[in-house]
Amino acid sequence: MSKPRVLSGIQPTADSFHLGNYLGALRNWVSMQSEFDCFYMIADMHALTVSPDPKDLEHRTLVSYAQLVALGIDPADSTIFVQSQVSEHAELMWVLSCLTGFGEANRMTQFKDKSAKQGNDSTNVGLFTYPILQASDILLYQPKAVPVGEDQRQHLELTRDLALRFNSRYKEVFTVPEAHIVKATAKITDLQEPTAKMSKSSPTGCLMLLDPLKTIEKKIKSAVTDSDTVIAFDPVNKAGVSNLLSILSVMSGHSIESLVREFEGQMYGALKTQVAEVVVAFAEDYQNKVNGLLADKAELSRLMTEGSKRAAGVAADTVSKVYSAVGFVSRGK
Ligand code: TYM
Repeated sequence: MSKPRVLSGIQPTADSFHLGNYLGALRNWVSMQSEFDCFYMIADMHALTVSPDPKDLEHRTLVSYAQLVALGIDPADSTIFVQSQVSEHAELMWVLSCLTGFGEANRMTQFKDKSAKQGNDSTNVGLFTYPILQASDILLYQPKAVPVGEDQRQHLELTRDLALRFNSRYKEVFTVPEAHIVKATAKITDLQEPTAKMSKSSPTGCLMLLDPLKTIEKKIKSAVTDSDTVIAFDPVNKAGVSNLLSILSVMSGHSIESLVREFEGQMYGALKTQVAEVVVAFAEDYQNKVNGLLADKAELSRLMTEGSKRAAGVAADTVSKVYSAVGFVSRGK
């Protein structure tokens, strides 16, 4: 029997993935390969919403691809592809845009937060329609599940609503996907502001996996904790310490309870030292692999094109069903 499918995506908006990306999503991308037929996408069209320098966008797309392979995603087994290389994403987006209410799109919290910060005049329409493009990314591949962090939940709900709406208005074309969110790492928080999610918009609190190892160690050692001295897991009252415990737990494979027991009577410095050791060891190996892969850019581009061709085969099949269901006249063979 064929394996059920999953799809997920990541934006190439920085020179490196960060620890939140890894623990909240990418770790699951790797582990899901044994049970699922995996489609993993580099969302360069989404990244365009923040108007990157073209050279940066191109470079970051290549580095993102190398990072996915370095993490253990096997391009022979999983389909790793670049969004802009599959034209069906933009095609399906138009159809789904015509199914989405203006008010519905206007209620997306990520859009509301970002546009409120930037002001209307510096907010582009791409940022507004971003979740509809994301719904298209997902529905094109008919996945059963979408492994993401907690911040993507609302976009997943919109995706499900659009799939159900399309299926009932036209014809059963789409699989209605489920969000696959791993609770323990659903939201890794900022090392300097431990109630906010870790994100590259806050450089001092964001642990970039390709940062120099010394910087990684320094960021962990200067993580904000609290004025208490007890190492306990309490995300509400002890957000910083709890974040460090979550990171250590997942990276070391030891449960939070056993870590709390192990650190009984010790100071926060001891916890930070151990977190730094585990993360630096991981990053060292990761960086060696990424650098090895980047040494042969031609081979990376070849693998990327191959993945995108594989993805396009599936996407074309879905768009053809969608076009026929909405009444677009077939252009023939
Ligand atoms: P992006 O590029 O911001 O992040 C990629 C993945 O990392 C997760 N993540 C986190 N998880 C836990 N704690 C954090 N601090 C943290 N920061 C990021 C995100 O939840 C995500 O799973 N819109 C998406 C990209 C996208 C996509 C898609 C995802 C485009 N099309 C289709 C799934 C399916 C985004 O901006 O992710």
